[in-house]
Amino acid sequence: MARFQEDFPIFRDNDVIYFDNAATTQRPVQVMDAMRAFNDECNANPLRGLYDWSVRATEAYEDARHTVAQFIGAERDCEIIFTRNTTESINLVAYSWGLTNLKEGDEIAITVMEHHSDILPWQMVSRQTGAKLVYLECGQDGVIPKEEYTAKITEHTRLVALAEVSNVLGITNPVREIADFAHDKGAVVLVDGAQSTPHMPVNVRELGADFFAFSGHKLMGPMGIGALYGRIGLLNEMPPFLTGGEMIESVDRYSATFAPVPEKFEAGTVNASGAVGLAAAIEYLKKVGWDDIMNQERMLTRRLMGELAELPEVTVYGNPDPDRHCGIVTFNIEGVHPHDVASILDSEHICIRAGHHCAQPLMKHLGVSSTARASLYFYNTEEEVDRFVRAVGKVRGWMGY
Ligand SMILES: Cc1ncc(COP(=O)(O)O)c(C=O)c1O
Repeated sequence: MARFQEDFPIFRDNDVIYFDNAATTQRPVQVMDAMRAFNDECNANPLRGLYDWSVRATEAYEDARHTVAQFIGAERDCEIIFTRNTTESINLVAYSWGLTNLKEGDEIAITVMEHHSDILPWQMVSRQTGAKLVYLECGQDGVIPKEEYTAKITEHTRLVALAEVSNVLGITNPVREIADFAHDKGAVVLVDGAQSTPHMPVNVRELGADFFAFSGHKLMGPMGIGALYGRIGLLNEMPPFLTGGEMIESVDRYSATFAPVPEKFEAGTVNASGAVGLAAAIEYLKKVGWDDIMNQERMLTRRLMGELAELPEVTVYGNPDPDRHCGIVTFNIEGVHPHDVASILDSEHICIRAGHHCAQPLMKHLGVSSTARASLYFYNTEEEVDRFVRAVGKVRGWMGY
């Protein structure tokens, strides 16, 4: 078994090639062990109890918050709010900050390559406040030209929301440059970090992010836990998103006052074992090390794009430079529907994604209705890439061409 795969029970005793890492990643045994230890040793409702298990559950949960804060370079732990996932993090900002701060005449700028999670919340805010939704377009290579964002981000722009890495093209956006420009115009910047946090070091302050959203399950953590970073000054001013237990200071019959951040935004019983699992995933990432992770992904992506380029029936979308794909290679095979591509590859025990990838505006922009997508992670191997490309090369034959 390949070097990195030994830690992943799901890869044992089978020949499955898992190339759907942009959808969700696999979990190493260290993550499961950390969650099991929480459940076996101190499972209790955190933040409530005064007995030992609950105190330890609270400590584990707050330690996880600290790990997340350090991981993305937040200044303070209280700037990290645990959510279910990137989607919930962005919705929190849309409902709480967006509905409170935006009005007719204002503009929200997003890129055409956003995941639906970073489009629909802003459509909702736009409908409810009258603020206008403006799209920053990219070229066929995935690059958003400077003239595009400097023309469309104006004094009317109150919010710029963009993915650091596209889940379809894998391109990394120039977040810092766009954020600097947006800040000069007085706008707030939200960064969707769902596809960047698994693949590269992130520092929210160096990025210029006022808000930063990501999901645990895309970086080897469990499903159902994610995080929102918010600059403390903004979070303090924002009203709660959800209301209920845990997030209050005091409650009268007809009114309530709220706890300070982060509790103000964490209504109800929290996902403490999920947070512990996410922290363990971050520790695991750190143990493997960014150098190994990024080198392995770069090597595999170059190999994959190089070998696909030998197949004339395959069109790869986005930037011709494999180093600008973050392990994500979106493609079509001439004359074969991407769903058929995925089904045929499944019969070869190869998992890829096919469809619109929750990015329909980008699909239309690229002039396609759907594509196939192979997304790699550092635990994938050269042999898997070769077997995958051999299978892709046989697809048209299987379809009877
Ligand atoms: C760029 C991007 N943003 C947001 C999401 C949504 O993530 P989740 O389903 O974990 O909320 C995804 C998921 O694929 C994504 O790739």
